[in-house]
Amino acid sequence: MSEPSGILIKGGQVVNDDCSVISDVYMENGKIVEVGLDLRIPGGARVIDATDKLVMPGGIDTHTHMELEFMGTRAVDDFYIGTKAALAGGTTMILDFVIPEKGKSLLEAYDCWRSKADPKVCCDYSLHVAVTWWSDQVKKEMQTLAEEKGVNSFKMFMAYKDVFMLKDSELYAAFSHCKEAGAIAQVHAENGDLIAEGAKKMLSLGITGPEGHELCRPEEVEAEATQRAITIAHAVNCPLYVVHVMSKSAAKVVSNARRDGRVVFGEPIAAALGTDGTHCWHKDWAHAAGFVMGPPLRPDPSTPGYLMDLLNKIQFTQTGLTGTDNCTFSVCQKALGKDNFTKIPNGVNGVEDRMSVIWEKGVHSGKMDENRFVAVTSSNAAKIFNFYPQKGRIARNSDADVVIWDPKMTRRISAKTHHQAVDYNIFEGMECHGVPVVTISRGKVVYEEGRLTVPAGHGRFIHRKPFSEYVYKRIRQRDQVGKPTAVERKPYEVKAAASTLRS
Ligand code: URP
Ligand code: ZN
Ligand code: ZN
Repeated sequence: MSEPSGILIKGGQVVNDDCSVISDVYMENGKIVEVGLDLRIPGGARVIDATDKLVMPGGIDTHTHMELEFMGTRAVDDFYIGTKAALAGGTTMILDFVIPEKGKSLLEAYDCWRSKADPKVCCDYSLHVAVTWWSDQVKKEMQTLAEEKGVNSFKMFMAYKDVFMLKDSELYAAFSHCKEAGAIAQVHAENGDLIAEGAKKMLSLGITGPEGHELCRPEEVEAEATQRAITIAHAVNCPLYVVHVMSKSAAKVVSNARRDGRVVFGEPIAAALGTDGTHCWHKDWAHAAGFVMGPPLRPDPSTPGYLMDLLNKIQFTQTGLTGTDNCTFSVCQKALGKDNFTKIPNGVNGVEDRMSVIWEKGVHSGKMDENRFVAVTSSNAAKIFNFYPQKGRIARNSDADVVIWDPKMTRRISAKTHHQAVDYNIFEGMECHGVPVVTISRGKVVYEEGRLTVPAGHGRFIHRKPFSEYVYKRIRQRDQVGKPTAVERKPYEVKAAASTLRS
């Protein structure tokens, strides 16, 4: 039997980032048609009872790497399995990264990602594009991507020396061009030169296991690069987005910059909010290797709480958001680095469990309310990346991407029950209060009673326009008022010395 096109969610508490209200929600043809009480709806619509449940915008994961080819292997969650798992966790949109090799065309890489993702995605998605080298061609292609291809964010790496890393003058050029194109400059902020030296040092000391990964890139290596990126972005008055903020030190740098009025955003990820880097010291090699990612999860166990507190701080009200950096490698792939930590493929899971982890550590713990939860799991991402209120809001005309959340239900995270392809889970055993009971994507029920019913290719690519208002208003104004001007002087008439040096 084919599903009726209209769906009425009845009696739930509709939660947006600014208010919660008991209301019904009616949707048709992929869009929310009406929000209110006593709605008149056409016969034949399916009615879902949401009494005692929350009706929230589906989650938006700002940072994934489905089927990424990286460090000699390919991430096991592809666009099909990864987006299905996202839906099971209440996430209805992901933003993945196109990462071209150095010297290769950005446009060709973008086309390649589209051709892999389009037929497979089960939820909507969009693409950031990485700038891994610099040239006039790259500059032109960035412009085309922003004007014609729906890309308004570009990631630059300050780490992965000789692979993806850019030097400071290239960062300056790339940030300048992001600004011209109306895009957001994103950075992977770690000092790649120091990491390369640190890695040699650890190996020479006989430290070959996963703990060496953090030891060769302590917090200050991340904090220094974060500060440097902020300084360069400020020099060109370009908005900056620091992806995967993993340490208290780097978070403080971002927080101070925001306090000083810089247009900078920081992205904590589920892994850093829900677990920590002490696992990399675990006696079981496979367990330890499972937590290796870059920048590393920090061994300071107060880090997750600190990052969660920051998400709720006033200077992050309009901007606090969360991703996952979901980039999964199975244990046997991690074993590529069994004798040398520098060869362990970097990456962890998160796309399925982000919403639950943030509810548990943020809302259930009493640090944030359900409105803030919506802000940091969907609305702020949609605002910054310029597709709000198409997504990130339950309102008339918004996309019908909805999660019905039972705040009283609990579940325990485990690799035995998760939907991802990876064979372990960094949140193994975590009990989570708050469970997604129904997920609706593009107006269709795709997850219900623990069952996924979604075909490959159900999701669509979301075009994002440049010059996001939430980001560019202050940038434009600063360009107007902050232009340096020369001091007006009379010409200097006294004789100037002739240079005595030979040129
Ligand atoms: O360990 C990570 N983060 N893997 C994915 C690549 C990246 O830098 O985001
Ligand atoms: Zn990165
Ligand atoms: Zn990443």
